[in-house]
Amino acid sequence: MSDRISRRDLLTGTAAALAATAVTGAPARLLAATDDWRVDLAHPGRPTADGMLGVPFEKHEVVRIAIVGTGLRGRSMLSELLAIEGVQITALCDVVEEKVRKAAAMVTKAGRPEPALFYNGDRDFERLVQRNDIDFVYTATPWPWHTPVALAAMRAGKHAASEVPIASSVEDCWELVETSEKTRRHCLMMENCCYGNSELSVLRMVREGVFGTLLHGEAAYLHDLREILFEDRDEGQWRRLPHTQRNANFYPTHGLGPVAQYMGIHRGDRFEYMVSMSSGEAGLTEWRDTHVPKDSAKWQERYIAGDMNSSLIKTAKGRTILLQHDVVSPRPYSRLNNLQGSKAIFNDYPPRVYLDGQAGGEKWATLESLNKKYEHPLWTAVGDLARKNGGHGGMDFVMAYRLVQCLREGLVPDFDVYDAVSWSVPFPLSEESLRKGSAPIKFPDFTRGAWRTSTAPQGPATK
Ligand SMILES: NC(=O)c1ccc[n+]([C@@H]2O[C@H](COP(=O)([O-])OP(=O)(O)OC[C@H]3O[C@@H](n4cnc5c(N)ncnc54)[C@H](O)[C@@H]3O)[C@@H](O)[C@H]2O)c1
Repeated sequence: MSDRISRRDLLTGTAAALAATAVTGAPARLLAATDDWRVDLAHPGRPTADGMLGVPFEKHEVVRIAIVGTGLRGRSMLSELLAIEGVQITALCDVVEEKVRKAAAMVTKAGRPEPALFYNGDRDFERLVQRNDIDFVYTATPWPWHTPVALAAMRAGKHAASEVPIASSVEDCWELVETSEKTRRHCLMMENCCYGNSELSVLRMVREGVFGTLLHGEAAYLHDLREILFEDRDEGQWRRLPHTQRNANFYPTHGLGPVAQYMGIHRGDRFEYMVSMSSGEAGLTEWRDTHVPKDSAKWQERYIAGDMNSSLIKTAKGRTILLQHDVVSPRPYSRLNNLQGSKAIFNDYPPRVYLDGQAGGEKWATLESLNKKYEHPLWTAVGDLARKNGGHGGMDFVMAYRLVQCLREGLVPDFDVYDAVSWSVPFPLSEESLRKGSAPIKFPDFTRGAWRTSTAPQGPATK
């Protein structure tokens, strides 16, 4: 028998057991307190002889980067990369020739050599990755292409990076881990929210002990995308589809990445299991009722994803994380980004803190009032440039700058393949929990035990 038990096998096994019970009429056994009642979708595990925790990049004097997917996000990251010294954009790929040419024009306008262009269908990235003038392939395609592009890049000897989420099935997560380990190429998920000014200040405060013992975090993607989801261009062409196919938290990583870094996930702690619940659906249906012409093909669609998905994650150290997703309700933007410790609490939107024993009673202080003391060195160094150039309040520039720094100086990247898949896997795990009436679902241990003792750097150093 293969050493990997697939989700499909497990589901078939469960279905077979239920069917047998129905036939024999045997009563279902009540669970004892000692039973492990959490559903295990995990790889049974192999020893991690050659893991990718703490592995530095080789040094690159000039970092040669290819971008697959030159839509809104690909071009936005391209403009950040073009503002950084020591970067050469050597190849660009998109299924739409006009978009790839638009991106190429940005490169030449910046006074850089014209990159090689690939626009010959869905799998033209497979030709791109074979070139010998590329160190790093970044993909900003729609979600279903993230895993195939990252796998092709690593198999062709390139470091791979993907937009979020990097995968939407447990099987793809394992394939990414095993391919990164086998090829010794990094596989990163470019989680820009880890580089926000507030997030990096909070990370520094955590490391300097301000929060005491960490107990609880809250992470989310709460963003009203209704108008964008119904557009006939860009994300409207692909991002509404999952709402007709799956009921899950589709986009867990923006909230979870920073909280995972605060908690040192894979450095002495890990996500152990999660439960999930979804509300009913109304947002997309009601938007269509009032905004979409009655003869549109969109009227054939049926939306099955609940509008508000809420999950709870328990970590091995006993910490809890609330994880939410809602992109179809009217509301101001929020990733929650809350952290509770035994000595302090931080809440974002707006960023504010309360320290144990703080003068003036139980009132929030602004994070800004502490930022002189706790601003992250990266923001001190490039914050002005980031605010001027950067998307999303500057975090995109800080992330791009830091990535290039790690590649040029031969440093350990701030996150690795284990982070990429652990922050993405709540997508299929929330779906599985919902399917089973909110049953607890175990996280696979993608590090196969290495999380217990790893002291590999994570996130940019705070000193
Ligand atoms: N990190 C962030 O803050 C952030 C922000 C926006 C989008 N994103 C992510 O970036 C990704 C892209 O989003 P977007 O807003 O740019 O969408 P988009 O639709 O504007 O761009 C996607 C591009 O990929 C191209 N494409 C599709 N299939 C392809 C293939 N097989 N090979 C090459 N190109 C292909 C499309 O033609 C399009 O140009 C998504 O995963 C999204 O979730 C992240």
